[in-house]
Amino acid sequence: MAEKNVYIAPEEIERERGIINLIKSNYATPKFAMVETFGCQQNVNDSQRIEGMLMEMGYTLTDKREEADVIIFNTCAIRENAHARVFGNLGALKHLKAKKPSLIIGVCGCMAQQEHIAKRIKSKYKHVDLVFGTHVLWRFPEFLADVLQHRERLIDISGEGVIAEGLPVNYDGGAKAFVSVMYGCNNFCSYCIVPYVRGRERSRKEEDILSEISFLAKDGVKEVMLLGQNVNSYGKDLGKEDAFADLLSKVCRIDGIERIRFMSSHPKDISTKLLETMAREDKICKSLHLPLQSGSDKVLSDMNRHYDRGKYLSIVEKARELMPDISLTTDIIVGFPTETEEDFEDTLSVLREARYDSIFSFIYSSRVGTKASQMENVSTEEEIDARFRRLLEVQNDISYSLNLRHEGNIERVLVESVSKTDEAMLTGRNYANKIVNFKGDRSLIGKFADVKITKAQTWVLFGEQV
Ligand code: 5AD
Ligand code: SF4
Repeated sequence: MAEKNVYIAPEEIERERGIINLIKSNYATPKFAMVETFGCQQNVNDSQRIEGMLMEMGYTLTDKREEADVIIFNTCAIRENAHARVFGNLGALKHLKAKKPSLIIGVCGCMAQQEHIAKRIKSKYKHVDLVFGTHVLWRFPEFLADVLQHRERLIDISGEGVIAEGLPVNYDGGAKAFVSVMYGCNNFCSYCIVPYVRGRERSRKEEDILSEISFLAKDGVKEVMLLGQNVNSYGKDLGKEDAFADLLSKVCRIDGIERIRFMSSHPKDISTKLLETMAREDKICKSLHLPLQSGSDKVLSDMNRHYDRGKYLSIVEKARELMPDISLTTDIIVGFPTETEEDFEDTLSVLREARYDSIFSFIYSSRVGTKASQMENVSTEEEIDARFRRLLEVQNDISYSLNLRHEGNIERVLVESVSKTDEAMLTGRNYANKIVNFKGDRSLIGKFADVKITKAQTWVLFGEQV
């Protein structure tokens, strides 16, 4: 059962709210702030929280660093290149601080939560005023107030996984929203840093999730993406089994919400009940992200994934039996330390059998403190690069041939914006989350349109409004 102290007490939240008001009356108006997000949807959602707090403090959000009085980098730790990007961008802020000494620069998120990173920022990036970890994000108002008041550097990466309800969030007014249903991860896949920087699994209370989504629906949100590192274990810490399927059914009953997506699902925990719920409920997109990571039983075991290719493929089969048109996506890691050529061939063979609509592929990156970082590499960098290219080739063919099956269909598209490449076109997403471009009036942005798919490419579909 969840420890009571997982949920931050209302008095503590009130205190932070008080500090928000204090900053508003003393410092923030009229000033500009920006939050730059590196990383996954969870980080996007966390950034919306920081933005929400900044806005309530009276800051106006900007996307120009030169204009900002407060810049917060919300960082990612999952691969080394994420670190490199953040450090590169932090370096670039130095001259801004020199020009405007009152500028406050903060770093938070998964990268900041690691001790060796916090130390490095402290010693080498002296223009950074504030470093705070994932577990104390909700205390951002008090940290900012401290820096504004005392003008001294502050680093806080303390604490353990908590849940803080009732602080502001910047829902940007779009038709789609992310809603976290749980935080943290218990799985300790041997390559992954997430459990170390985000703490143990903890679920939000069902009533808090449902009331947030009802609020969003009233605000015009039509599609929600429910987020968790492994949504299939939602509610286990509250003493409930298979609670995610029940939660989904309840979200389906909320008026105004027309589409529901979720990610990620760990294959070891996915249940038939969840697949049946997906199949039964019209509002749940027939689209499933099921991270495979590797198709080799040996590598899966070394990765500590707790399933083998047989079990994985049996889930795919069950999903297709219940939802013949289901769109599948996955995550693949190439070059895990123990991966041989033969193991990689096993991954390709699962790709061919499972037939994913698209994949997110990553070259393995060693993370400090993980089990895999102690394992010896059996392949060279050149071999791994070649595998990565082959993986993409195999997948591109599959993606293209699966995209062809949309041609001739009339599909519901949630329109997002004007196309970046062609002013005359609108861009949106179908049930499978695939990009659909078509000619249409801008007034459709934020609404659903029925579009006949006329042409498929590997990454995008084209159509005409009907
Ligand atoms: N190296 C490469 N990819 C990783 N991922 C997680 N950790 C690593 C790592 N150390 C990938 C996994 C996961 C996705 C979010 O990122 O595929 O599912
Ligand atoms: Fe990382 Fe595995 Fe947890 Fe996903 S399930 S966040 S890959 S430890």
